[in-house]
Amino acid sequence: MASVCKDVLCRSAVPEDVEPLYQMISGYAERGIMLPRSREVLMRQLELFIVAEVDGEVVGCGSLCKLGDDLVEIRSLGISEGHKGMGIGSKLVEGLIIEARRQRIPKIMALTYEVSFFIKNGFDVVNKEIFPEKVWTDCINCSKQNNCDEIAVLKMLN
Ligand SMILES: CC(C)(COP(=O)(O)OP(=O)(O)OC[C@H]1O[C@@H](n2cnc3c(N)ncnc32)[C@H](O)[C@@H]1OP(=O)(O)O)[C@@H](O)C(=O)NCCC(=O)NCCS
Repeated sequence: MASVCKDVLCRSAVPEDVEPLYQMISGYAERGIMLPRSREVLMRQLELFIVAEVDGEVVGCGSLCKLGDDLVEIRSLGISEGHKGMGIGSKLVEGLIIEARRQRIPKIMALTYEVSFFIKNGFDVVNKEIFPEKVWTDCINCSKQNNCDEIAVLKMLN
């Protein structure tokens, strides 16, 4: 179990979070780990995001995208470099799972390179083909769309 950072606050994103969200996601997008999001898109989709805050600073984020009545996807999950390995990513995943349950969605998935992290959080590796086409709409924006090497992980919530 990661040593949980006690002073971390997980909360819904607010307009003031757009800039730190943009900086964090852009940093990962430049390294090909995440899809980029413009400030405009972040502002428009703010209600989908939660953030982790330590001492008033946004140190992590994650979002939940509804793909159908029974499926949501975790997107833009990231922790700033100095705050990894402290249980903050798991806490954000927990928060996103609570939100999926609140919406009564039974399945939560992610496309990721961080397979062991998701397995530690109760997800299983699954074949990408099991997901409906809607899952791949975001891939239009990805440079790797025809040779995606991300792994699909899934957790059943009931
Ligand atoms: C993946 C990520 C979100 C994990 O966040 P984190 O706050 O560092 O993770 P936690 O501290 O909650 O780790 C929980 C557990 O997973 C393990 N873990 C975390 N990152 C891991 C990794 N990269 N590989 C293997 N295990 C990992 C931890 O050791 C811990 O295990 P423990 O409970 O046995 O100690 C973070 O490393 C990150 O921002 N990565 C880059 C962006 C990314 O790839 N996001 C995923 C997109 S879907």
